[in-house]
Amino acid sequence: MCETMFGNTGKIAAAIADGMADGADVTLTNVVDAPAELPATVDLLVVGGPTHAFSMSRVGTRRTAAERGGAFTDVPGGIREWLEALPPPKTRMSFAGFDTRVDMPLLPGAASRAATKLARKHGFDVLDPASFLVEGYEGPLVEGQLELARDWGHGLTEQLAG
Ligand SMILES: Cc1cc2nc3c(=O)[nH]c(=O)nc-3n(C[C@H](O)[C@H](O)[C@H](O)COP(=O)(O)O)c2cc1C
Repeated sequence: MCETMFGNTGKIAAAIADGMADGADVTLTNVVDAPAELPATVDLLVVGGPTHAFSMSRVGTRRTAAERGGAFTDVPGGIREWLEALPPPKTRMSFAGFDTRVDMPLLPGAASRAATKLARKHGFDVLDPASFLVEGYEGPLVEGQLELARDWGHGLTEQLAG
């Protein structure tokens, strides 16, 4: 499940889904179309979004992104709002968060870490999050990130199997 304003996180999500598809049945959804409740058959929930202001996006940061040419996906909200509203899973379910962020090592914070914290609070078994890099706010992705995303996706299914 992903949120994307300029398309970069969407491309990473597709590469992750591709990497997972070898070992799992994968459904890729945009947050705009995501169901309010998860089917009990889900073993692993993978959620990603852009890092905005050191964390997951908020209505104000999405508005800023829209002013810079991004899609305005404010109804029904971003991954923060979706995760906050998600009922705790009734069965054992794993969670893996990912994000995109600019390639600046000194800039702290990542949407995936905030999402993982929220998922842990909800009772998910959380796996290590991952960040993928963009060159600037609008992108493009730094070279090699799609391959890293595919590998990370593949690794997730291996962790589940193990
Ligand atoms: C309002 C706003 C705030 C941002 N804040 C951060 C930040 O704190 N750290 C960071 O690494 N990137 C930041 N970025 C860059 C985003 O991470 C980047 O736009 C995103 O990875 C692109 O993904 P998308 O194409 O899926 O929207 C920010 C971008 C916007 C629009």
